[in-house]
Amino acid sequence: MTAEAVKALRAVIGNEFSLDLQEAVIGGEGLDTVGDALPPETLAVARQADAILLGGTGVPEDEKRPPSEGAGYGLLKLRKALSLYANFRPVKLFPELLDASTLKPDVVGGVDMVILRELNGDLYFGQPRGIETDAEGRRVGFNTMRYTDAEIERIAHAGFQAARRRRKKLCSVDKANVLETMALWREVVIEVSKQYPDVELSHLYIDAASMVLIRNPRQFDVIVTGNVFGDILSDAAAMLAGSIGMLPSASLGSDNKGLYEPVHGTAPDIAGKNIANPLAAILSVAMMLRYSFGLENHAARVEEAVGSVLRDGYRTGDIMQPGSRLVGTREMGDAVVEAVLQSGGGS
Ligand code: IPM
Ligand code: MN
Repeated sequence: MTAEAVKALRAVIGNEFSLDLQEAVIGGEGLDTVGDALPPETLAVARQADAILLGGTGVPEDEKRPPSEGAGYGLLKLRKALSLYANFRPVKLFPELLDASTLKPDVVGGVDMVILRELNGDLYFGQPRGIETDAEGRRVGFNTMRYTDAEIERIAHAGFQAARRRRKKLCSVDKANVLETMALWREVVIEVSKQYPDVELSHLYIDAASMVLIRNPRQFDVIVTGNVFGDILSDAAAMLAGSIGMLPSASLGSDNKGLYEPVHGTAPDIAGKNIANPLAAILSVAMMLRYSFGLENHAARVEEAVGSVLRDGYRTGDIMQPGSRLVGTREMGDAVVEAVLQSGGGS
């Protein structure tokens, strides 16, 4: 999938810009080759890059490893080391995929929202954490949900600013009725909202938000939430877009450097079979062009190319519909490249 995304990137920049592309290993590949899910060389390459395109990191052996030694941990460390705290996960339904969703077309038609997931805090990073044996000999697993006011403030600002660029509605999702961390979350979001009187702020508890997401997803514009709730909500929201194979993401910090990756994880069982949907990776390239390189037109060309191949009926298995043309990962990538080149007007 990543190879297809790189193909699309090369196609859209053509001879206009030069691309200095470096490859580095992470996750399962890092563990297998150098015994580290985030090898220091990889972190160094990532640090000096303007943008990072991330492929899947998981491997089947992960199920037997403790979380802090698994492949996914390399990705978590990378997000944290580069302070990429704002994870934008746009959920937009291409009209061509109206029937690919498991939800009714009149519910999902026109869905266009962004889930902004905080990426550097919460249960993912809070200390203490671990599995210990207590005085009675019982094994106890524990994690800590933790956010500082400053961490909440910066993601809240990112949420309000994103809403300002869109339909000016921000919904903050928390669990303030049960968890102190989340009570602080709500308090800080309300404080920050005073600087954005033009944005309409609402609050939902995560359980209710999950329900509304399925019942009436069109009501959402920007959702801002913590690391764990955002992880879960965005997988659920993927089905609004027809398939998790369609969802790109951008993880940004306080400068333009960004990490771009599909929302989906790895599916080692289908790796190398040329059947996975590369569109989430390709759409992640569009986000890279937009956010790290300021190339809005190029980003739009990639997105339009995706729309056009869908209109032409190209489908990978996850979004297959009766009467469409089932294609493999590479064929889908080729079709997007072709559409990108055509949109370039021969340049
Ligand atoms: C995601 C993934 C990761 C996460 C895993 C692979 C560590 O599920 O990006 O949503 O939990 O953040
Ligand atoms: Mn996830």
